[in-house]
Amino acid sequence: MNTKELVIIGAGNVGGFIAYNQDLFLKQYNIIGFLDDDVNKIGKQFYGYTVIGSTDKASSLSKDTAIVIGIGSPKTKKNIHQKLVDKGFSFPSFISKNVWLSNHVKIGEGVIIYPGVSINYETIVEDFVIINMNCAIGHNCLISKYCTLAPGVNFAGFTKLEEGADIGIGVSSKQNILVGTYSIVGGQSMLVKNVAANATVAGVPASTITKIL
Ligand SMILES: CC(C)(COP(=O)(O)OP(=O)(O)OC[C@H]1O[C@@H](n2cnc3c(N)ncnc32)[C@H](O)[C@@H]1OP(=O)(O)O)[C@@H](O)C(=O)NCCC(=O)NCCS
Repeated sequence: MNTKELVIIGAGNVGGFIAYNQDLFLKQYNIIGFLDDDVNKIGKQFYGYTVIGSTDKASSLSKDTAIVIGIGSPKTKKNIHQKLVDKGFSFPSFISKNVWLSNHVKIGEGVIIYPGVSINYETIVEDFVIINMNCAIGHNCLISKYCTLAPGVNFAGFTKLEEGADIGIGVSSKQNILVGTYSIVGGQSMLVKNVAANATVAGVPASTITKIL
């Protein structure tokens, strides 16, 4: 079988999930290693593969290489993607075989969706989104670029996340909630009001706990 070569960016938890679980995905790759900007990781093995260099090393890879950005932090994902955009690499999406996607769901590139996730109709998942285990995303939702959802998130219909929202474990929303760009929602929060851009909210119901300047 002629499998494409894959480099995983980020030798942390999300990258480890991809490295350990190739059998979960429909398309198989030949993993050639990790890239990671933590100099202490370079040359060491994680999850069965070696960190072959920092992200700067991507420029020396063949343009046929597939890349997955296995990093949870929305801002870090964006920065790395900006460095690699227009360099000719492909960014496949990794969607676990046991994800339920309704008809009329759109998924972008570079997306990672863990097992047990369900996504209902007319929901859009944009590029470089991560949706962790057992999330239930209702109909007509929007999960914009670079957002990250921790395990067990439950969104009611028409919940809309702007770019880079970071949603903690077990968060729920009522319908029609708008979550602002690069905001952070703390674990187990219930969203009953819109969340401002760059805000950090938490609690039931969720309210602002701090503002990132
Ligand atoms: C919201 C969050 C980002 C805040 O982190 P932080 O900025 O370091 O804030 P702190 O821990 O200093 O907490 C600040 C205050 O908010 C409260 N708080 C923090 N997280 C909370 C939460 N999820 N729900 C309710 N209150 C919370 C703290 O008790 C503290 O209250 P106090 O000022 O009365 O003592 C973090 O607590 C959180 O929930 N992260 C999500 C983690 C997660 O889901 N990980 C999944 C990985 S897969």
